[in-house]
Amino acid sequence: MAILKIARMGHPVLHRPAAAVADPAAPEIARLIEDMLDTLEDAQGAGLAAPQVHVPLRLVLFRVPPGREAAPEQGDDEAHAALEAPTVLINPEIEPLGETVVEDLEACLSLPGLAGMVPRHERIRYRWTDTGGRGHEREAEGFHARVVQHECDHLDGILYPMRMTDLSTLAFTSELGRPAAEEA
Ligand code: NI
Repeated sequence: MAILKIARMGHPVLHRPAAAVADPAAPEIARLIEDMLDTLEDAQGAGLAAPQVHVPLRLVLFRVPPGREAAPEQGDDEAHAALEAPTVLINPEIEPLGETVVEDLEACLSLPGLAGMVPRHERIRYRWTDTGGRGHEREAEGFHARVVQHECDHLDGILYPMRMTDLSTLAFTSELGRPAAEEA
């Protein structure tokens, strides 16, 4: 078990594009994933991208905390339960579905204690490779779609304030008087 140090806004590793993972089945990738899972658990975050732990590779983890699922009619209970455990995405790609963009509060482990309103595509389709080298595809909406977009932005050197259209909503969560958004 290893808890990795999380890079904070301003560190160069967060501000440049990450490289594709050449061999998803490599032992060093398995070790990185284990350490990132430990780090996510320790930080009680909703997601973590490899550049956030100083590794410039296209690999992210995310989970959908209970109560953050999309509306019940949009999916089954089994699918929701599966998303409460972290999912590992290697070399992910996102395709927006439809034109709808929604704003919600977002927070990031690389900007601890802060949150802001960020516009994101409401629905997306995303594709990724698993550690066995197999390709997968899934559709997402709501928080699920948001956290995947947030994590994949990290792979392109983008932090959520760079997506904000109204910087007056950037705030310390301790001042907001409501539960903090999950950091990711
Ligand atoms: Ni983040």
